[in-house]
Amino acid sequence: MTSTLRVLTGITTTGTPHLGNYVGAIRPTVRASRQPGTQSFLFLADYHALIKCDDPARVQRSTLEIAASWLAAGLDPEQVTFYRQSDIPEIPELTWLLTCVTGKGLLNRAHAYKAVLDKNAAAGVDADTDVTAGLFMYPVLMAADILMFNANVVPVGRDQVQHIEMARDMAASFNHLYGEHLTLPEAGIDDNVALLPGLDGRKMSKSYDNVIALFGPSEQLRRQILSIVTDSRAPGEPKSTEGSALFQIYRAFASNEETAAFAQAFAQGIAWGDAKQQLFERIEREIGPMRERYQHLMAYPEEVERLLLAGASKARAVATPFLRELRQAAGLRPLTAQLAARAENKPAKQELPSFKQYRESDGRFYFKLTGPDGAVLLQSLGFESPREAGQIVKRLQTEGPQALPALATHLDSGASAPAQAVDEALTRLHEALKA
Ligand code: TRP
Repeated sequence: MTSTLRVLTGITTTGTPHLGNYVGAIRPTVRASRQPGTQSFLFLADYHALIKCDDPARVQRSTLEIAASWLAAGLDPEQVTFYRQSDIPEIPELTWLLTCVTGKGLLNRAHAYKAVLDKNAAAGVDADTDVTAGLFMYPVLMAADILMFNANVVPVGRDQVQHIEMARDMAASFNHLYGEHLTLPEAGIDDNVALLPGLDGRKMSKSYDNVIALFGPSEQLRRQILSIVTDSRAPGEPKSTEGSALFQIYRAFASNEETAAFAQAFAQGIAWGDAKQQLFERIEREIGPMRERYQHLMAYPEEVERLLLAGASKARAVATPFLRELRQAAGLRPLTAQLAARAENKPAKQELPSFKQYRESDGRFYFKLTGPDGAVLLQSLGFESPREAGQIVKRLQTEGPQALPALATHLDSGASAPAQAVDEALTRLHEALKA
């Protein structure tokens, strides 16, 4: 593996990018992708889109809009690996390999899934209402996205941190079973990245319907900025920058000096209309030149398509051989050479003595310890409940032969093998379980 840091992130293709996405994700990611020593993987998560959107036209349009936005914002597809998730068939294939090493209980704890269960409980409807298996499996697909490319760092918002932890868990399970193949990723959270307020002062988000479009026509940008909520202070009255959405949005685009000058204008009573005009001009200065490229790409989707397909080949140059390695590790392999390889590496598992629990016709619960050949080594007396029998078995397994004296009253000494054979069998079992 390379010594460079691999940074990977995905964007679900259900919406149209807004100014908050630009400040919070697009701009910092494009900048980070230019850092020497990092290798960026950036993709359009259209399989994830299907989990929450069943409108095909919307998924397609969003994929184009998001791709065009990133490219217009300066993403260099020569420098990064920029691709569409559904162009990489290795990702759903890895999803299955991971599915088989993931506890259902782990997925039960996913926040996004639990949120729907809570909502259903509150509404008094069936717990599984509106829960597709896709929603339940979301974290596994996301883990496959990340582990497919051995990403070291995944820049995400705080709401996604649990998914990165789950990806680590899945990678660790796979490695534990099949050898060290997968890299354990870390979540990269940048607390310096601005959380942009929307028109109403709450966090800018499609779900609050308070967004400013990123690459709408400039007239629309002006209109939306004019509708930012302010207090009712008149021109000439000093204005507070504290809690002002207008000021915070300005700061996300301006240099420190520009921001200081803007704050001074507030103190000196700038009219809200003038402040809005300044904000519009400042944003337009950064976004305007990008808008032209965006509009061009939207008009010529074949250019975007071509770039994405080239990105997919680059991504598959990594994914195809790596998936072959993972399949091989899990036992999906040609039937010829590999059988021999396994016999060399791993001696056949030695058969161990084992405990068996059962119920007799007297209604009582028993256990016995039998050797690999089936011979009875230890025979218990009857217990009232399977739990009592189980507890004694557990003690013999965890403590080994030294537990025997204390448990003698529960054992049928007449039906058990000589003490030395019992000691030996329990010791072997105890060692094997410890390993
Ligand atoms: N779940 C992410 C989101 O909604 C999108 C995503 C899908 C992603 N796969 C990923 C992000 C892999 C990072 C890495 O924001």
